[in-house]
Amino acid sequence: ELVVEGYGDGENSNEDIRAVVNNNIRKIGPVLDPQYRPGDVIWKILPEMSPDKVIAEIKKSNIRGRGGAGFPTGMKWELARQTESDEKYIICNADEGEPGTFKDRVILTERPKLLLEGMVIAAYATGAKKGILYVRHEYKYLKTYLENLIKGAHERNLMGKDIAGIKGFEFDVRIQYGAGSYVCGEESALIESAEGKRGEPRDKPPFPVERGYLGKPTVVNNVETFCSAVKVLLNGADWYRSFGTKDSTGTKVLSISGDCRYPGVYEVEWGFTVRDLCEMSGAVDVKAVQVGGPSGSLVGPEDFDRTLCFADLSTGGSLIMFNYSRDLLQDVVLNFTSFFIEESCGSCSTCRVMPVILRDKLQKILNARGVKSDVSDMLEWAKVLKSSRCGLGQTAANPIVTSIRNFPDLYDQKIRGKDDYDTGFDLNRATR
Ligand code: NAI
Repeated sequence: ELVVEGYGDGENSNEDIRAVVNNNIRKIGPVLDPQYRPGDVIWKILPEMSPDKVIAEIKKSNIRGRGGAGFPTGMKWELARQTESDEKYIICNADEGEPGTFKDRVILTERPKLLLEGMVIAAYATGAKKGILYVRHEYKYLKTYLENLIKGAHERNLMGKDIAGIKGFEFDVRIQYGAGSYVCGEESALIESAEGKRGEPRDKPPFPVERGYLGKPTVVNNVETFCSAVKVLLNGADWYRSFGTKDSTGTKVLSISGDCRYPGVYEVEWGFTVRDLCEMSGAVDVKAVQVGGPSGSLVGPEDFDRTLCFADLSTGGSLIMFNYSRDLLQDVVLNFTSFFIEESCGSCSTCRVMPVILRDKLQKILNARGVKSDVSDMLEWAKVLKSSRCGLGQTAANPIVTSIRNFPDLYDQKIRGKDDYDTGFDLNRATR
């Protein structure tokens, strides 16, 4: 029996924080733990630790970026520390725009002090004096709330000059709001936007740790990454590594939505299976789960014993459940493909054009006019789309590719008997 208990006694209690469970044993996850006492690390631990020691502890914890890509956090901070510059920046990416992802919103409202403390720690470790909290436009209603928290941090000497009595350690955070663009969640587009420019991704390298905001070394981390880093320092890297698997340490905060009885925000150790999460959220008759939002994978029951971790199903935190009442191609795949068309910044021709062609092919199949070669064409074009500059274009074909791979029958049903010419195409071979 899984115990699913609600909690969330923060200042602005969110009903949708659901549970922290490790199979049968209920544990409090590091990020959502309501017992957290703000400022403990800054006041009690930082004065005893050099920046290098902080980085060493973060590296030892093996924590990896929680936005989705999983880059080692300690290495990112170390690279920023090592880059010589008169100015450095810490940016918190709170622009979560992946459809089905809302865990950062809950962290922002429930544990905002944890997040700000994490940014201060990153500043100490890297030598940055200024930070930006980049919040998606849709969360603008948090403006006064967040501004008051930053003001409060200054009053308690958790920000400002000589923080916690550490001579010369200064750091301040300003808030920047997005304007509703999905691509601005991509770190270099976010930086462009924060500089007041049109939000378009930059070529990488150079990575932001080398040349980021205003051309200066910049650490960009997800909300949850900063929060987890606080707990690493508070309880030690070994404690943190006791959560999760060997290679994917710690916990992951998940947004679970769709056809399930208990949608909400969960914190689980890495290593849970998709089936565990279906059970936890009370999802029955599950036909498919979208893991990692539209840029992730649409998986079916055959994959439900796969685990959430960087080596298997890695995710920025979104799981959408679909039951057997859903028409996956029409309601999910077509919808997500249209989303990418809408959100492309248009600067790469691949990303501007290919998703439109893919959508038209899919529509043709849905209109019962498709032939087998339409499917092989889509897989070929998906490869071309991978050459786009940023993650948006690189993943825009994922709804189509993963549905062809995991639900070939859905395509077969639509094109059966309509193969007016034989291309010799073998669907099984092409998707292997
Ligand atoms: P990426 O792998 O290019 O980079 C990840 C991070 O590592 C970046 O901060 C980058 O600067 C850093 N990095 C990578 N190589 C580096 C190097 N050699 N030196 C220094 N730093 C380096 O991935 P990207 O494009 O930043 O993110 C893609 C992920 O974002 C996907 O996994 C996707 O699931 C996720 N995503 C999350 C969304 C959300 O709402 N949370 C929305 C859309 C995508």
